[in-house]
Amino acid sequence: MQIKKLYLLAALGSVLYSCSSNKASVEHETEMAGTEAPAAGSELHRPQFHFTPPAKWMNDPNGMVYHNGEYHLFYQHNPDTTVWAPMHWGHAVSKDMVSWEHLPIALYPDSLGMIFSGSAVVDKNNTSGFGTDGNPAMVAIYTYHDMPGEKAGKDDYQSQGIAYSLDNGRTWTKYAQNPVLKSPNIRDFRDPKVSWYEAGKKWVMTLAVADHIRFYTSKNLKDWKLEGQFGQNIGGHGGVWECPDLFKMKVAGTNEEKWVLLVSINPGGPNGGSATQYFVGDFDGSTFKLDPQFEANLKGEYAVAGTPVNKGKGIWIDYGRDNYAGVTWANVPESDGRRLFLGWMSNWDYANVVPTENWRSAMTVARTLELEKTDAGLRIVSKPVKELENIFGTSYTLEAQTVTDALALSEKAPFKTATFDLQLELEPVGEAAQFAIELSNDMGQKVLIGYDATRKQYYIDRREAGKHDFSDKFGGIHYAPRIASDATFPLRLVVDVASVELFADNGKTVMTDVFFPDDKFTKVSIIADKGEVKLKSGTLTEVKSIYSAVQ
Ligand code: FRU
Repeated sequence: MQIKKLYLLAALGSVLYSCSSNKASVEHETEMAGTEAPAAGSELHRPQFHFTPPAKWMNDPNGMVYHNGEYHLFYQHNPDTTVWAPMHWGHAVSKDMVSWEHLPIALYPDSLGMIFSGSAVVDKNNTSGFGTDGNPAMVAIYTYHDMPGEKAGKDDYQSQGIAYSLDNGRTWTKYAQNPVLKSPNIRDFRDPKVSWYEAGKKWVMTLAVADHIRFYTSKNLKDWKLEGQFGQNIGGHGGVWECPDLFKMKVAGTNEEKWVLLVSINPGGPNGGSATQYFVGDFDGSTFKLDPQFEANLKGEYAVAGTPVNKGKGIWIDYGRDNYAGVTWANVPESDGRRLFLGWMSNWDYANVVPTENWRSAMTVARTLELEKTDAGLRIVSKPVKELENIFGTSYTLEAQTVTDALALSEKAPFKTATFDLQLELEPVGEAAQFAIELSNDMGQKVLIGYDATRKQYYIDRREAGKHDFSDKFGGIHYAPRIASDATFPLRLVVDVASVELFADNGKTVMTDVFFPDDKFTKVSIIADKGEVKLKSGTLTEVKSIYSAVQ
């Protein structure tokens, strides 16, 4: 969150702070245990298969870790209202990253502050001493935000704390000697992502510090030492750096290994507001060094400057407006081998005012990340996890044909739904031809997800998508570079009532946008513009609700 905004919300936050006293929180805990989203079926804009909090406010995913057969998802949560205010860690678990069981709040604010974003690890070697040989501790590493300190004009109001759980994340004990890392009087000092660095047999904490990343290391998760830093004047700098992640990846189809550093920034995203950029390079246990080729790519034609302040070009994990603060799951078994990502499907430009009543904001679908050599250099390629197929319903195979004007896909489909997975292979005929997929309702509201042949860019146009008067920053067209150059455009759209995720060219270009139509978008068509477009193949698949009551 932009620090200025943080100040504004601080006022509101401090009013609500008292509501989150331990007593109130404990009561809330009982109430929330094991619940499902109460009115999930009847709320117009409630996603049916994306993760949403049962009620009230949510922002960043936190502490994502796999342990004993469960994917844990903690999240920035205000259990008292639908706007950002004193942060807790909400909690849910899943066996497949698709269906979720809501659990009681994991971490409550305490005398050191609110609980901001962070990560969780499984301390297999019991380096912390919190666990036992047979039962390793799950350790959460998070930022404390001391609101009274901030209000008093201090500079050291953010610090890092730890907590541990010996029962699969069900109950948590905060470390008595918190904080474990204090701010050296730098105001933005937050969002620790901790991982085990095997080559040096140590923990590495990747921390967002104002306009750069710092790397701290520890042998026991309690004592941290500064080792290196990265990022000043590199990449996008239109806003403060937040929520980093650092991990090793194989370059697809080779044995070459590279390190990837994710950095969310707000504002300064390629289409305004919040977005997540990434860097490819090497990490030696102390610091991150940009790959020379990637450095050149950052200056190249496909790197996109952020708005509104053009301070450096970035390469972004998602060019849409609504994928922020995303990080990857820790401790995914090597036998699985995937790098699994999930982001917050909103944007600080309007997150607090989107028109939902009982809850605010959803996560993206879980995605696999891969590192591929593309025409534009090394790129992260994202795709929905295969587990999404667990909730696939009826599938409708589209007939190959040439689209001259518009082709209504939903008319012939054996289901009428605003939740679907659409996979297409399109081929515009001639240089000028371009296409759009239109999602619409009978009220004349629509979202267009298309390709602009003149700009050679994909776009999502939500100018007429329904409600957007809640914020003058919401409407608009958002663009993303096409980095593939094949004649055929493989496209995948994951649509869930109030959001679309576009995975174009097998995930080389990704865009995520939310929208709020007054009636559900149950109509889908392909529109050909400035020429014909061949539909070479396609399937339209119904995606079922994760709320059994409304299936
Ligand atoms: C990112 C962020 C983090 C912070 C959290 C507060 O969206 O601003 O930097 O820890 O949200 O809720």
